[in-house]
Amino acid sequence: MITRAVVTGGAGFIGANLVERIADEGADVLVVDDLSSGRLVRLIDARATGNVNFHQADIRQPEIVDLLAKFAPEVVFHLAAQIDARRSVVEPVVDASINVVGTVNVVQAAVEAGASRVVFASSGGAQFGTTDTLPTPETEPRRPESPYGVAKAVVDRYLEYYAAAHGLEYVSLGFANVYGPGQDPHGEAGVVAIFVQTLLRARPAKIYGDGSITRDYVYVDDVVDACIRAAQRGAGHYLNIGTGMETSVNRLYDMVAKAVGSPLRPEYLAAKPGDVPRSCLDASLAKEVLGWEPWMTLEEGIDRTVQWFRRHPDF
Ligand SMILES: NC(=O)c1ccc[n+]([C@@H]2O[C@H](COP(=O)([O-])OP(=O)(O)OC[C@H]3O[C@@H](n4cnc5c(N)ncnc54)[C@H](O)[C@@H]3O)[C@@H](O)[C@H]2O)c1
Repeated sequence: MITRAVVTGGAGFIGANLVERIADEGADVLVVDDLSSGRLVRLIDARATGNVNFHQADIRQPEIVDLLAKFAPEVVFHLAAQIDARRSVVEPVVDASINVVGTVNVVQAAVEAGASRVVFASSGGAQFGTTDTLPTPETEPRRPESPYGVAKAVVDRYLEYYAAAHGLEYVSLGFANVYGPGQDPHGEAGVVAIFVQTLLRARPAKIYGDGSITRDYVYVDDVVDACIRAAQRGAGHYLNIGTGMETSVNRLYDMVAKAVGSPLRPEYLAAKPGDVPRSCLDASLAKEVLGWEPWMTLEEGIDRTVQWFRRHPDF
Protein backbone atom coordinates (compact mmCIF):
# COMPACT_ATOMS: atom_id res chain seq x y z
CA MET A 1 0.00 0.00 0.00
CA ILE A 2 1.15 3.54 -0.74
CA THR A 3 1.44 5.65 2.41
CA ARG A 4 3.01 8.94 1.30
CA ALA A 5 3.08 10.17 -2.28
CA VAL A 6 3.70 13.29 -4.33
CA VAL A 7 1.66 13.58 -7.51
CA THR A 8 2.92 16.26 -9.90
CA GLY A 9 0.22 17.26 -12.37
CA GLY A 10 -2.31 16.02 -9.81
CA ALA A 11 -4.93 18.58 -10.88
CA GLY A 12 -4.80 17.21 -14.42
CA PHE A 13 -6.99 14.55 -15.98
CA ILE A 14 -5.01 11.41 -15.14
CA GLY A 15 -3.34 12.89 -12.03
CA ALA A 16 -6.64 13.80 -10.35
CA ASN A 17 -8.01 10.31 -10.95
CA LEU A 18 -4.82 8.86 -9.40
CA VAL A 19 -4.93 11.24 -6.42
CA GLU A 20 -8.55 10.36 -5.68
CA ARG A 21 -7.83 6.64 -5.76
CA ILE A 22 -4.74 6.66 -3.52
CA ALA A 23 -6.20 9.24 -1.10
CA ASP A 24 -9.31 7.03 -0.79
CA GLU A 25 -7.04 4.13 0.05
CA GLY A 26 -5.50 6.17 2.89
CA ALA A 27 -2.30 7.60 1.40
CA ASP A 28 -1.14 11.10 2.37
CA VAL A 29 -0.82 12.94 -0.93
CA LEU A 30 0.89 16.17 -1.88
CA VAL A 31 -0.30 17.49 -5.23
CA VAL A 32 2.08 19.83 -7.07
CA ASP A 33 0.56 21.56 -10.07
CA ASP A 34 0.87 25.03 -11.61
CA LEU A 35 -2.77 24.87 -12.80
CA SER A 36 -1.69 25.80 -16.34
CA SER A 37 -4.18 23.25 -17.64
CA GLY A 38 -5.12 21.53 -14.37
CA ARG A 39 -8.27 22.38 -12.46
CA LEU A 40 -8.83 22.26 -8.71
CA VAL A 41 -12.44 21.24 -9.23
CA ARG A 42 -11.13 17.81 -10.22
CA LEU A 43 -9.79 17.34 -6.68
CA ILE A 44 -12.96 18.14 -4.71
CA ASP A 45 -13.74 14.50 -3.84
CA ALA A 46 -10.10 13.62 -3.17
CA ARG A 47 -9.66 16.60 -0.83
CA ALA A 48 -12.79 15.55 1.09
CA THR A 49 -10.80 12.54 2.33
CA GLY A 50 -8.63 14.95 4.35
CA ASN A 51 -5.55 13.19 2.96
CA VAL A 52 -4.65 15.63 0.18
CA ASN A 53 -2.53 18.78 0.29
CA PHE A 54 -2.24 21.03 -2.73
CA HIS A 55 0.73 23.23 -3.62
CA GLN A 56 0.59 25.46 -6.68
CA ALA A 57 4.05 25.56 -8.25
CA ASP A 58 5.81 25.20 -11.56
CA ILE A 59 7.95 22.03 -11.62
CA ARG A 60 10.83 24.07 -13.09
CA GLN A 61 11.15 26.18 -9.92
CA PRO A 62 13.93 25.54 -7.38
CA GLU A 63 11.31 25.58 -4.56
CA ILE A 64 10.28 22.06 -5.67
CA VAL A 65 13.38 20.66 -3.97
CA ASP A 66 12.50 22.09 -0.52
CA LEU A 67 8.85 21.26 -0.97
CA LEU A 68 9.52 17.58 -1.58
CA ALA A 69 12.19 17.45 1.15
CA LYS A 70 9.67 18.74 3.72
CA PHE A 71 6.98 16.29 2.64
CA ALA A 72 9.38 13.30 2.44
CA PRO A 73 7.37 11.06 0.09
CA GLU A 74 8.14 7.38 -0.43
CA VAL A 75 7.04 7.62 -4.07
CA VAL A 76 6.75 10.45 -6.58
CA PHE A 77 4.28 10.07 -9.44
CA HIS A 78 5.49 12.53 -12.06
CA LEU A 79 2.62 13.43 -14.39
CA ALA A 80 3.01 17.21 -14.79
CA ALA A 81 3.77 18.00 -18.41
CA GLN A 82 3.10 20.10 -21.43
CA ILE A 83 0.98 17.44 -23.17
CA ASP A 84 0.27 18.94 -26.58
CA ALA A 85 2.48 17.32 -29.23
CA ARG A 86 1.51 19.93 -31.82
CA ARG A 87 2.47 22.76 -29.44
CA SER A 88 5.83 21.03 -28.93
CA VAL A 89 6.48 21.37 -32.68
CA VAL A 90 5.76 25.11 -32.60
CA GLU A 91 7.41 25.78 -29.21
CA PRO A 92 10.07 23.10 -28.72
CA VAL A 93 12.01 25.17 -26.18
CA VAL A 94 8.96 25.60 -23.94
CA ASP A 95 8.20 21.90 -24.29
CA ALA A 96 11.76 20.89 -23.36
CA SER A 97 11.91 23.33 -20.45
CA ILE A 98 8.82 21.72 -18.86
CA ASN A 99 9.11 18.11 -20.05
CA VAL A 100 12.89 17.68 -19.79
CA VAL A 101 14.30 20.34 -17.41
CA GLY A 102 11.18 20.37 -15.20
CA THR A 103 11.29 16.58 -15.01
CA VAL A 104 14.99 16.53 -14.06
CA ASN A 105 14.16 19.07 -11.33
CA VAL A 106 11.43 16.75 -9.98
CA VAL A 107 13.65 13.66 -10.13
CA GLN A 108 16.54 15.48 -8.43
CA ALA A 109 14.10 16.70 -5.76
CA ALA A 110 12.84 13.13 -5.28
CA VAL A 111 16.41 11.94 -4.66
CA GLU A 112 17.15 14.76 -2.21
CA ALA A 113 13.86 14.07 -0.40
CA GLY A 114 14.85 10.41 0.08
CA ALA A 115 12.02 9.02 -2.06
CA SER A 116 12.63 5.44 -3.04
CA ARG A 117 10.80 5.52 -6.37
CA VAL A 118 9.62 7.70 -9.24
CA VAL A 119 6.77 6.59 -11.49
CA PHE A 120 6.93 8.57 -14.72
CA ALA A 121 4.00 9.26 -17.07
CA SER A 122 5.60 8.63 -20.43
CA SER A 123 3.92 8.21 -23.79
CA GLY A 124 3.90 5.06 -25.89
CA GLY A 125 2.04 6.63 -28.78
CA ALA A 126 4.40 9.59 -29.14
CA GLN A 127 7.66 7.67 -28.88
CA PHE A 128 7.55 4.98 -31.51
CA GLY A 129 6.50 7.13 -34.46
CA THR A 130 5.38 5.50 -37.70
CA THR A 131 5.90 1.74 -37.61
CA ASP A 132 4.55 -1.42 -39.21
CA THR A 133 5.02 -3.39 -35.99
CA LEU A 134 1.53 -3.26 -34.50
CA PRO A 135 0.76 -3.70 -31.66
CA THR A 136 4.16 -2.14 -30.94
CA PRO A 137 6.32 -3.77 -28.24
CA GLU A 138 8.87 -1.95 -26.06
CA THR A 139 11.70 -3.44 -28.15
CA GLU A 140 10.71 -1.38 -31.18
CA PRO A 141 13.24 1.44 -31.87
CA ARG A 142 11.97 4.78 -30.63
CA ARG A 143 11.61 7.26 -33.47
CA PRO A 144 9.54 10.09 -32.02
CA GLU A 145 8.06 12.47 -34.57
CA SER A 146 7.60 15.45 -32.23
CA PRO A 147 9.71 17.26 -29.62
CA TYR A 148 7.13 16.04 -27.08
CA GLY A 149 7.98 12.42 -27.98
CA VAL A 150 11.72 13.18 -27.93
CA ALA A 151 11.38 14.65 -24.42
CA LYS A 152 9.53 11.56 -23.15
CA ALA A 153 12.24 9.31 -24.64
CA VAL A 154 15.09 11.39 -23.19
CA VAL A 155 13.62 11.26 -19.68
CA ASP A 156 14.13 7.48 -19.63
CA ARG A 157 17.88 8.06 -20.06
CA TYR A 158 17.84 10.42 -17.05
CA LEU A 159 15.91 7.84 -15.02
CA GLU A 160 18.53 5.19 -15.87
CA TYR A 161 21.24 7.63 -14.79
CA TYR A 162 19.50 8.38 -11.46
CA ALA A 163 18.98 4.67 -10.82
CA ALA A 164 22.68 3.95 -11.40
CA ALA A 165 24.09 7.03 -9.67
CA HIS A 166 21.65 7.42 -6.77
CA GLY A 167 19.87 4.08 -6.41
CA LEU A 168 16.53 5.72 -7.27
CA GLU A 169 14.01 3.12 -8.43
CA TYR A 170 11.89 4.10 -11.39
CA VAL A 171 9.16 2.83 -13.66
CA SER A 172 8.40 4.67 -16.88
CA LEU A 173 4.87 3.97 -18.13
CA GLY A 174 4.22 4.64 -21.81
CA PHE A 175 0.52 5.37 -21.97
CA ALA A 176 -1.49 4.93 -25.15
CA ASN A 177 -4.39 7.40 -25.73
CA VAL A 178 -5.97 7.78 -22.32
CA TYR A 179 -9.67 8.70 -22.09
CA GLY A 180 -12.41 8.85 -19.48
CA PRO A 181 -14.27 11.09 -17.02
CA GLY A 182 -12.68 14.45 -16.31
CA GLN A 183 -10.61 14.74 -19.48
CA ASP A 184 -10.26 18.24 -20.88
CA PRO A 185 -12.68 18.53 -23.84
CA HIS A 186 -11.11 21.80 -25.01
CA GLY A 187 -7.51 20.83 -25.81
CA GLU A 188 -6.09 18.93 -28.77
CA ALA A 189 -5.34 15.68 -27.01
CA GLY A 190 -8.59 14.21 -25.80
CA VAL A 191 -10.56 13.18 -28.87
CA VAL A 192 -13.05 11.08 -26.87
CA ALA A 193 -13.85 14.00 -24.53
CA ILE A 194 -14.10 16.38 -27.49
CA PHE A 195 -16.49 14.12 -29.43
CA VAL A 196 -18.60 13.44 -26.31
CA GLN A 197 -18.99 17.06 -25.29
CA THR A 198 -19.52 18.35 -28.84
CA LEU A 199 -22.24 15.78 -29.55
CA LEU A 200 -23.91 16.32 -26.16
CA ARG A 201 -24.14 20.00 -27.13
CA ALA A 202 -25.72 18.90 -30.42
CA ARG A 203 -22.91 20.36 -32.53
CA PRO A 204 -21.17 18.54 -35.37
CA ALA A 205 -17.75 17.21 -34.41
CA LYS A 206 -14.74 17.75 -36.66
CA ILE A 207 -12.57 14.97 -38.03
CA TYR A 208 -9.22 15.98 -39.53
CA GLY A 209 -8.40 13.82 -42.56
CA ASP A 210 -10.57 10.89 -43.65
CA GLY A 211 -10.89 9.40 -40.15
CA SER A 212 -8.91 6.27 -40.98
CA ILE A 213 -6.01 6.90 -38.57
CA THR A 214 -6.04 4.50 -35.66
CA ARG A 215 -5.22 4.87 -31.99
CA ASP A 216 -5.18 2.65 -28.91
CA TYR A 217 -7.72 4.01 -26.38
CA VAL A 218 -7.08 3.02 -22.77
CA TYR A 219 -9.47 3.92 -19.93
CA VAL A 220 -8.20 6.21 -17.19
CA ASP A 221 -9.01 3.79 -14.32
CA ASP A 222 -6.84 1.16 -16.00
CA VAL A 223 -4.01 3.71 -16.30
CA VAL A 224 -4.38 4.65 -12.62
CA ASP A 225 -4.21 0.95 -11.75
CA ALA A 226 -0.94 0.68 -13.73
CA CYS A 227 0.50 3.67 -11.84
CA ILE A 228 -0.37 2.12 -8.46
CA ARG A 229 1.15 -1.23 -9.41
CA ALA A 230 4.25 0.59 -10.67
CA ALA A 231 4.73 2.13 -7.23
CA GLN A 232 5.61 -1.32 -5.93
CA ARG A 233 6.77 -3.47 -8.84
CA GLY A 234 8.70 -3.29 -12.09
CA ALA A 235 11.71 -1.16 -11.07
CA GLY A 236 14.01 -0.25 -13.95
CA HIS A 237 11.44 -0.80 -16.70
CA TYR A 238 9.84 1.21 -19.45
CA LEU A 239 6.42 -0.43 -19.95
CA ASN A 240 3.71 0.12 -22.55
CA ILE A 241 0.25 0.74 -21.10
CA GLY A 242 -2.36 0.16 -23.79
CA THR A 243 -5.01 -2.29 -24.92
CA GLY A 244 -3.32 -3.68 -28.04
CA MET A 245 -6.46 -2.77 -30.00
CA GLU A 246 -6.60 -0.27 -32.84
CA THR A 247 -9.68 1.90 -33.31
CA SER A 248 -10.08 4.31 -36.21
CA VAL A 249 -11.32 7.84 -35.58
CA ASN A 250 -14.39 7.03 -37.72
CA ARG A 251 -15.22 3.98 -35.61
CA LEU A 252 -14.64 5.96 -32.41
CA TYR A 253 -16.97 8.69 -33.67
CA ASP A 254 -19.70 6.12 -34.44
CA MET A 255 -19.35 4.60 -30.97
CA VAL A 256 -19.58 8.00 -29.24
CA ALA A 257 -22.53 9.07 -31.44
CA LYS A 258 -24.34 5.84 -30.53
CA ALA A 259 -23.65 6.27 -26.80
CA VAL A 260 -24.85 9.89 -26.90
CA GLY A 261 -27.80 9.03 -29.17
CA SER A 262 -26.76 11.64 -31.72
CA PRO A 263 -27.79 11.43 -35.39
CA LEU A 264 -25.23 14.11 -36.40
CA ARG A 265 -22.56 13.24 -38.93
CA PRO A 266 -18.98 14.48 -38.50
CA GLU A 267 -17.53 17.36 -40.47
CA TYR A 268 -14.38 16.28 -42.36
CA LEU A 269 -11.54 18.82 -42.57
CA ALA A 270 -8.02 18.72 -44.05
CA ALA A 271 -5.68 16.31 -42.25
CA LYS A 272 -3.26 17.89 -39.78
CA PRO A 273 0.38 17.19 -40.63
CA GLY A 274 2.37 15.01 -38.29
CA ASP A 275 -0.30 12.51 -37.22
CA VAL A 276 1.14 8.97 -37.40
CA PRO A 277 -1.28 6.81 -39.44
CA ARG A 278 -1.55 3.91 -36.98
CA SER A 279 -0.72 3.51 -33.31
CA CYS A 280 -1.34 0.65 -30.92
CA LEU A 281 0.74 -0.71 -28.04
CA ASP A 282 1.65 -4.25 -27.02
CA ALA A 283 1.40 -4.27 -23.22
CA SER A 284 2.40 -7.93 -22.63
CA LEU A 285 5.46 -6.82 -20.65
CA ALA A 286 3.29 -4.81 -18.24
CA LYS A 287 1.24 -7.96 -17.68
CA GLU A 288 4.38 -9.97 -16.95
CA VAL A 289 6.11 -7.34 -14.78
CA LEU A 290 3.20 -5.55 -13.05
CA GLY A 291 0.44 -8.14 -13.41
CA TRP A 292 -1.41 -5.35 -15.22
CA GLU A 293 -4.11 -5.80 -17.83
CA PRO A 294 -6.73 -3.39 -19.11
CA TRP A 295 -10.21 -4.53 -18.07
CA MET A 296 -12.43 -1.78 -19.49
CA THR A 297 -13.98 -2.30 -22.91
CA LEU A 298 -14.12 0.72 -25.20
CA GLU A 299 -17.96 0.54 -25.35
CA GLU A 300 -18.31 0.58 -21.55
CA GLY A 301 -15.58 3.22 -21.12
CA ILE A 302 -17.29 5.52 -23.64
CA ASP A 303 -20.64 4.98 -21.89
CA ARG A 304 -19.14 5.94 -18.55
CA THR A 305 -17.49 9.00 -20.09
CA VAL A 306 -20.78 10.09 -21.67
CA GLN A 307 -22.62 9.65 -18.34
CA TRP A 308 -19.97 11.73 -16.58
CA PHE A 309 -20.16 14.56 -19.11
CA ARG A 310 -23.97 14.51 -18.86
CA ARG A 311 -23.61 15.08 -15.10
CA HIS A 312 -20.99 17.85 -15.68
CA PRO A 313 -22.39 19.82 -18.64
CA ASP A 314 -20.27 22.91 -17.96
CA PHE A 315 -16.93 21.10 -17.59
N1 LIG B 1 -3.83 11.81 -21.81
C1 LIG B 1 -3.14 10.98 -22.59
O1 LIG B 1 -3.68 10.38 -23.50
C2 LIG B 1 -1.67 10.74 -22.31
C3 LIG B 1 -0.99 9.84 -23.15
C4 LIG B 1 0.37 9.62 -22.93
C5 LIG B 1 1.02 10.26 -21.89
N2 LIG B 1 0.33 11.13 -21.09
C6 LIG B 1 1.06 11.79 -20.03
O2 LIG B 1 0.34 11.68 -18.81
C7 LIG B 1 0.55 12.85 -18.01
C8 LIG B 1 -0.77 13.45 -17.59
O3 LIG B 1 -1.52 13.76 -18.76
P1 LIG B 1 -3.03 14.32 -18.69
O4 LIG B 1 -3.75 13.80 -19.87
O5 LIG B 1 -3.57 14.11 -17.34
O6 LIG B 1 -2.76 15.88 -18.97
P2 LIG B 1 -3.26 17.18 -18.20
O7 LIG B 1 -2.87 18.35 -19.04
O8 LIG B 1 -4.70 17.03 -17.82
O9 LIG B 1 -2.38 17.14 -16.89
C9 LIG B 1 -1.10 17.72 -16.81
C10 LIG B 1 -1.04 18.54 -15.55
O10 LIG B 1 0.27 19.07 -15.42
C11 LIG B 1 0.16 20.42 -14.99
N3 LIG B 1 1.36 21.14 -15.45
C12 LIG B 1 1.70 21.44 -16.72
N4 LIG B 1 2.87 22.11 -16.75
C13 LIG B 1 3.27 22.22 -15.46
C14 LIG B 1 4.40 22.83 -14.83
N5 LIG B 1 5.35 23.44 -15.55
N6 LIG B 1 4.49 22.76 -13.49
C15 LIG B 1 3.53 22.15 -12.75
N7 LIG B 1 2.44 21.57 -13.29
C16 LIG B 1 2.31 21.61 -14.63
C17 LIG B 1 -1.12 20.95 -15.61
O11 LIG B 1 -1.66 22.07 -14.94
C18 LIG B 1 -2.01 19.72 -15.52
O12 LIG B 1 -2.75 19.69 -14.33
C19 LIG B 1 1.41 13.79 -18.85
O13 LIG B 1 2.76 13.63 -18.46
C20 LIG B 1 1.21 13.29 -20.26
O14 LIG B 1 2.32 13.59 -21.08
C21 LIG B 1 -1.00 11.40 -21.29
